[in-house]
Amino acid sequence: MGAVPSSLVDTLRAARDRRGPLLSDARTTAFRVLHGEADGVPEVTADVFGGGLYVISLYQDFTPAEEEALLDAAVAAWAPKSVYLKRRPREARVLANVAKESLAPEVPARGEPVESLTALENGLSFLIRPAQGLSVGLYLDMRDTRAWLQERARGLTVLNLFAYTCAFGVVASASGAKRALNIDASRRVLEWGEENARLNGQPVDRYDYVAGDVFDWLKRLAKKGETFDVVISDPPSFSTTRTARFSAARDYARLADAAARVVTPGGRLVACCNHAGLPARRFETMVAEGVALAGRKGKAVGSLGPSALDFPSLPGQEPALKVHVVEVR
Ligand SMILES: C[S@@+](CC[C@H](N)C(=O)[O-])C[C@H]1O[C@@H](n2cnc3c(N)ncnc32)[C@H](O)[C@@H]1O
Repeated sequence: MGAVPSSLVDTLRAARDRRGPLLSDARTTAFRVLHGEADGVPEVTADVFGGGLYVISLYQDFTPAEEEALLDAAVAAWAPKSVYLKRRPREARVLANVAKESLAPEVPARGEPVESLTALENGLSFLIRPAQGLSVGLYLDMRDTRAWLQERARGLTVLNLFAYTCAFGVVASASGAKRALNIDASRRVLEWGEENARLNGQPVDRYDYVAGDVFDWLKRLAKKGETFDVVISDPPSFSTTRTARFSAARDYARLADAAARVVTPGGRLVACCNHAGLPARRFETMVAEGVALAGRKGKAVGSLGPSALDFPSLPGQEPALKVHVVEVR
C-alpha cells in the first residue's frame, strides 16, 4: 500500500478525532470519519453509522495484503463493531460485468454482520443497510443541504427528483412541508424511503413515492401545470434508462430546463451534481442555461456542499459535490 503512511493507525485515529463536534453530537450518528488524501489516506474513505458500523470505500485497486493492513489499522484506531468494504475502482463504473459481490461483499470484512441499523442525522432516523450494494442508504455529503431544507420547508411543496431512499422527502416532512413528492426509477429504494418515513413517525401516502423516469415525470407534471415551491434535482453522474442515457457533464442544462418548468414562480431549484469532473463554474452555467431554456428567469441565491468538518478539501481543490440554489421567477 505504497501511498498509505506507515503510521496508519495514528493517521486514522487523528482523522476521526478531527470530527470532534460530530463525535459529541448525540443527534447525529452518521458522518464521514476519513476523507481520502485530505485526511492523509489517498483513495480511501470511511463513514460511520450509529457509533459502531464503519463502511470503508476504496477508490483504487489495493492488493489483498494492503486491504488487510488497512482493515487492521481501522480496527486498532476506531474499535468498530463491524466494518464493511466497498471497492470502487474507476473501471468498475464502466464495466457492467464486474461481479457485484466482489465490489460490495455482503459479509463484513471485520466484526459482526449488520442487516440494518438506524442512524441519526440532526435528530431524524435513517435506515442503513451496509450489506446491500455500494450505497448503504444515506449520502453523508448532503447533510448540510438537508439541514438547509429542514430550515425552510415548512408549509411548502417539495419535489424530490432522483429520490433514492427519500432522505430529502423525510427532512421536508419533518419540517412541516405541505407535501413531499419523491420520484426515483427504482421501486426498491422508494420502499426503503417509505420505511424511513415510518421510522420518523410520518404518514406514508403511496402517491408521494413514484417509481418512474424523472424526465418522463417532469414532462407529465409540466403538462398538468403542477408546480412545487422547492425542486431538488440530484441525479447520478451517469445513468441509462430504457429510453435514454444521461451524463451530468453533458446533459445538466436539459435536466435544469425540465425541472425549472415545474418550479412555482419565486420558488427554488436546488440543482445538485456529484461529478468530480465538472467544475462548479461550468455546472452553474449549465443550470442557468437550463432555466433560461425553460423561459424562466433565474437568480442564483446560494451554494451549498459537503460540510468541511467531515469532507475536508485539499488546498485549491473543489469538493466533488456541488449544490446550486436558484430562485426561479
Ligand atoms: C445519487 S442517487 C440520489 C441521492 C438522493 N438524492 C439522496 O440525497 O439520497 C441517484 C438516484 O437516481 C435514480 N435514478 C437514476 N436515473 C434516474 C432516472 N432517469 N429517473 C429516475 N431516477 C433515476 C437512481 O435509482 C438513484 O436512486
